[in-house]
Amino acid sequence: MEFEAVVRRRRMVRRFDPDAPLDPEALRRIVARGLRGPSAGFSQGLDLLVLRHPDDRARFWAAASDRPGPADAWLAGVSAAPALVLVLADPGAYRDRYARPDKADRPPPFPYWDVDAGMGALLVLLSAVDEGWGALFFGVPTRRHARVLAEFDAPADRRLVGVLALGHPAADARRAGGSSHTRRRPDRDRLHVGRFGRPLAASEGLTGPTGSPVEGADERDG
Ligand SMILES: Cc1cc2nc3c(=O)[nH]c(=O)nc-3n(C[C@H](O)[C@H](O)[C@H](O)COP(=O)(O)O)c2cc1C
Repeated sequence: MEFEAVVRRRRMVRRFDPDAPLDPEALRRIVARGLRGPSAGFSQGLDLLVLRHPDDRARFWAAASDRPGPADAWLAGVSAAPALVLVLADPGAYRDRYARPDKADRPPPFPYWDVDAGMGALLVLLSAVDEGWGALFFGVPTRRHARVLAEFDAPADRRLVGVLALGHPAADARRAGGSSHTRRRPDRDRLHVGRFGRPLAASEGLTGPTGSPVEGADERDG
């Protein structure tokens, strides 16, 4: 699929078709791409834990949910996803990496492990669209993190940054919206050129002083 189409089509899917067969090779491609993202200092502190077997997924939902009783619409739609991927960040990998001589005087200014996990998760979301699948990134209540980690033998010091639900969207998936009360902020309010608050004019390209395209950023910390 064209990259532009992948980006534009990517919307969170919250209702999956539990009966649509999944191509295991496509699933492998989707999750493997999640590990191709950048990482600060090349720390590579991201792990992905795939739950494909129905028993494993049932154990996840039991460990992750705190609402007893019948499933609400969100849970009914998302728990039908035939594959789940736990997105796990390892702060220890960054502590080790940033203790090395080339980084020792430049500690991460904020949790880079979470940033890198988000980058990997986005690659999975985009890859799912590219394969014609649907996906949702969602969070697990903090009070449930330790239980979910223990349930799947993940080290207790990993951060459960979120979970990706993957599968084929249900026929009515578009009606299962998320934060639909909020409208997308227009690009002109969010894209600033030269100084904060100066929008990019419709007629304007992003050119440098010589009229040539703006160069990529030079090398920075990270
Ligand atoms: C860090 C993060 C956490 C999110 N957590 C949830 C969640 O717990 N449940 C959910 O249904 N959607 C969740 N979302 C999805 C957002 O609601 C969604 O991205 C947003 O409404 C924009 O819609 P779109 O992604 O379809 O464009 C999360 C997204 C991010 C980036």
